[in-house]
Amino acid sequence: MGKEPKATTPSVGDPDKGAKIFKVKCTQCHVIDNSGKHKQGPNLMGLWGRKTGSAEGFKYTEANKNKGITWGLDTLWVYLENPKAYIPGTKMVFAGLKKTKERADLIAYLKEKTTGNYTKDD
Ligand code: HEC
Repeated sequence: MGKEPKATTPSVGDPDKGAKIFKVKCTQCHVIDNSGKHKQGPNLMGLWGRKTGSAEGFKYTEANKNKGITWGLDTLWVYLENPKAYIPGTKMVFAGLKKTKERADLIAYLKEKTTGNYTKDD
């Protein structure tokens, strides 16, 4: 107690709403499937729980590869708010999702989808 609260605390949202956000904001550069194929950005299948820069066959920047954290709720929460602040030097051109509700929904979707548990949009 007595500490300043964090600006925002990660929260868990609605994956169905997150699926729609992903379509609008991310599919231009990312797919999440088992094809092993990449677009401008890496295929995000298997993202949840793995280290940065681990999608096989994708040419990451050193910055993304060397970040060295594990993708999950806490890390995606900060990254997706402002990717260039979290990984300076990333080549991902995305301004960030500032709305906490949208971030919560998107991350709920990413968790299910990248672990193969979201099948509604297949
Ligand atoms: C204009 C293209 C573009 C858009 C839009 C985009 N990304 Fe990316 N993303 C990239 C690129 C390119 C990289 C690789 C960055 C690097 O190597 O520096 C990346 C990397 C990532 C990573 C790190 C992957 C890893 O294996 O370490 C995550 C997570 C990610 N993007 C999620 C998203 C999400 C979620 C959205 C939608 C909100 C999104 N991106 C929108 C291009 C994009």
